[in-house]
Amino acid sequence: MEIVTLGNDVLRQKALPLQDIDDTVKALAQEMIETMHRGRGIGLAGPQVGLLQRIFVVQLDGESPRVFINPTIIGTSPETSQYEEGCLSIPGMYADVTRPEKVTIQAWNERGRPFTLDAEGLLARVIQHEYDHLEGILFIDRLSAPKRNRLVALYDKKMRA
Ligand code: NI
Repeated sequence: MEIVTLGNDVLRQKALPLQDIDDTVKALAQEMIETMHRGRGIGLAGPQVGLLQRIFVVQLDGESPRVFINPTIIGTSPETSQYEEGCLSIPGMYADVTRPEKVTIQAWNERGRPFTLDAEGLLARVIQHEYDHLEGILFIDRLSAPKRNRLVALYDKKMRA
């Protein structure tokens, strides 16, 4: 799978729910996990591989991959934290992003089983970052306008080089 990058309109659209979680979806999730590994990322969402579907994969160092299909964030903590984020669709760019420290998410896995997960720390952060992708939101949207403009200008300059 090819990872699409900033400027591609697919990253700015709202992804649609999957109708069935069948073998095709299982294979799709596996392909996304492999694409995430190749990119050395810890998360990858459907729109990032050109699919406007509500699916993302996450894998932290030393853990098994997790697949989230048709997810809903059902709770976030009032406490926030700041951490440096990057994105496979905006290669080479990093910035501190403030997000809720904990999140509760409900989703289906690649075998079609529903689950609810309470996550905190890095896992909570990646989940929120990937969930944003399904809404057409990128981490740079969560920065102040001056910071975002600076980052995008730097990225454009790098891409033209
Ligand atoms: Ni991303």
